[in-house]
Amino acid sequence: NNFLSFIHVFSILLSCIELLFHFNKPENYISMYHQEGSDMLYVGGQAMIYVLTFTNRGVRNLQIPAASDQTAIDTCKAKAAPLELECDNFITVIQKVNDTMIICGTNAGSPRCWMLVRVSSDKILEFCCTIASASDISPPYPSQKSISLPADGSLYSAMSSVAGHAGSIRRTFGSQKLLKTENVWLLNPQFAGAAIMPSTLKYKEEIYFFFSELNKTARVDEEPYRARIGRICTVDEGGIKALLADSWTTFMKARVMCGAGNTQQQYNNMKQAVVLTAQDKRAGVLYGLFSNAWGRTVICAYSIEDIDQAFSTSKLKGYSSPFIGSRPGMCVRKNSTAGGHNDIKNLGVIRYHPEIEDVIRPVGVAPLDLPTDDQITHAVADIVLAVNDEHYSVLYLGTDQGKVLKVLHSSEGVFIISQYSLFHNEGPVLNMAIDSQKGHLYVGTAMEVQRLPLADCSRYGDTCRECILSRDPYCGWDRSRRKCIPIPPGYNRSTSPREVLVQSNTSIFLPCPVRSFHATYRWVKDNCVKNYPCLFSGDFCVLGPAIDTPLKEGVFRCIATEDGFKVEVISFRLVNDGRLLAASLASTLGPSILLAMATLWLH
Ligand SMILES: *[C@@H]1O[C@H](CO)[C@@H](O)[C@H](O)[C@H]1NC(C)=O
Ligand SMILES: *[C@@H]1O[C@H](CO)[C@@H](O)[C@H](O)[C@H]1NC(C)=O
Ligand SMILES: *[C@@H]1O[C@H](CO)[C@@H](O)[C@H](O)[C@H]1NC(C)=O
Ligand SMILES: *[C@@H]1O[C@H](CO)[C@@H](O)[C@H](O)[C@H]1NC(C)=O
Ligand SMILES: *[C@@H]1O[C@H](CO)[C@@H](O)[C@H](O)[C@H]1NC(C)=O
Repeated sequence: NNFLSFIHVFSILLSCIELLFHFNKPENYISMYHQEGSDMLYVGGQAMIYVLTFTNRGVRNLQIPAASDQTAIDTCKAKAAPLELECDNFITVIQKVNDTMIICGTNAGSPRCWMLVRVSSDKILEFCCTIASASDISPPYPSQKSISLPADGSLYSAMSSVAGHAGSIRRTFGSQKLLKTENVWLLNPQFAGAAIMPSTLKYKEEIYFFFSELNKTARVDEEPYRARIGRICTVDEGGIKALLADSWTTFMKARVMCGAGNTQQQYNNMKQAVVLTAQDKRAGVLYGLFSNAWGRTVICAYSIEDIDQAFSTSKLKGYSSPFIGSRPGMCVRKNSTAGGHNDIKNLGVIRYHPEIEDVIRPVGVAPLDLPTDDQITHAVADIVLAVNDEHYSVLYLGTDQGKVLKVLHSSEGVFIISQYSLFHNEGPVLNMAIDSQKGHLYVGTAMEVQRLPLADCSRYGDTCRECILSRDPYCGWDRSRRKCIPIPPGYNRSTSPREVLVQSNTSIFLPCPVRSFHATYRWVKDNCVKNYPCLFSGDFCVLGPAIDTPLKEGVFRCIATEDGFKVEVISFRLVNDGRLLAASLASTLGPSILLAMATLWLH
């Protein structure tokens, strides 16, 4: 496989600086908490909280025992023989709500949560106050998966279903009303993740929950799982006394498909989900990790805009009457007129018809075409602004063999940039945390926790060619030092691409200097696959107005290809007149000036 030959296989050499922490005993269930920008990682294990501080000289660790009392353990063992190994205090939740750190454990079948007050001078964690709703936040046994997400001063918790427990999505802590899902809304949910959907209007902020539903009475020839997205509004304060009093009034759910088109080959069991969004814009991508009945794992990518659109416009399943007034389930500001006739009607619609008809399908209508057969156990993702001023998604996929694959996802498809083998152990990756701000990835297995740099550029060799062929968007070639280096934080990209303000009527000609007559030159727009030829060439390959050349707005790059090796020679960002420009380079230029200046710029 040609594609694979470019994958850089790294074995992390741990002899110099060990950014690795070994557990004293295997930790088969680990929870993690990491705050962006810090060097600390909280790891919850069996009857133990590990507070790890990663420094240039190694990992400092503070281990805080958190055992259940013996009577709880004895009671657990007496009543739940098959779960005997789970009769201990497994730390399942470590989260910060406002400034309060909340830590929850299974406590041998009767969950408890504590608020962490501070780390005292002699490095002991001081707790106060248990939290009443502990059994809604933490499961009683670690094999029952739960998700918790802090948002806007409240804690949101999703609990997977097990025998005798329906599973739920709840607001569990905070000053807002504590709400829950109605049992009929979820069919044996198994949760895979949750994410905040930001909005410029605060009251429109939503939380998405990702899960699979399991139909236990499905026939053997039927697929028992269905992947789902459920959503609620953070402003939701529940219904009225007679209807949805303590339940969400904004819950809706949708079916999610992951498979090739309408074929039978579908991956219906969503195991994990991560979302990449812009700070306050509802745009981005959802990555779901799915498996099929044979346990094969794939990744599907979805557009957040598509999902948002479906929830705001789709018909509701089983409901055909027109909506009166506002659409049911939408986020609305708390308003004194609430409780009016239409609102009550809408509550009824949501109560009985929370599912939308539209089905969410992946971008490219199929799973990402990853050239690997590895079983993926965990995924995290990052958005990278590369030297060429484009945003790229990078996925980090943990495998059942303790490897981490670093995968570039762009409009052109997926590409495995590199693969890390985590030397000391071959067990599955159980958990990961990413810190985009500091550029770190934390990877946990049952035996150890490691920190890796997101930008690992020195490993791509000593030539510009190798650096660029790695396609690692975290890295760039430093011409003066002749090294492949991480793109420095706050790197000033004002030289590339150059901004040009286009007046609606003028013709624009973009020059690209021809430096090598052995190379072929062409233009691409917005990194799209479509190429534009030179209008005339000589010393310059010029892109100018022609049929099919939309020279109005966007990023235009001149690409030279020689010997299979591509370089970007120059790029321009055309901005339509009337728009405000931030960059100082922006200029209003006529065609002749533009051509003349090109020569100046290049010396
Ligand atoms: C979180 O902070 C906000 C504003 O500072 C406050 O209104 C809210 O009550 C706090 N929530 C909790 C759970 O302490
Ligand atoms: C589960 O599958 C059975 C058998 O196909 C079907 O009759 C039943 O309606 C399904 N249940 C749900 C909630 O979809
Ligand atoms: C309440 O809602 C009505 C109609 O939906 C709107 O006209 C009014 O401005 C709202 N009031 C507040 C205080 O938001
Ligand atoms: C980037 O560089 C340009 C020109 O050197 C300068 O004017 C601008 O202030 C710089 N921007 C930042 C954010 O440093
Ligand atoms: C732009 O073009 C229109 C018609 O094509 C013309 O009427 C107008 O005067 C032009 N404006 C400028 C600034 O050249």
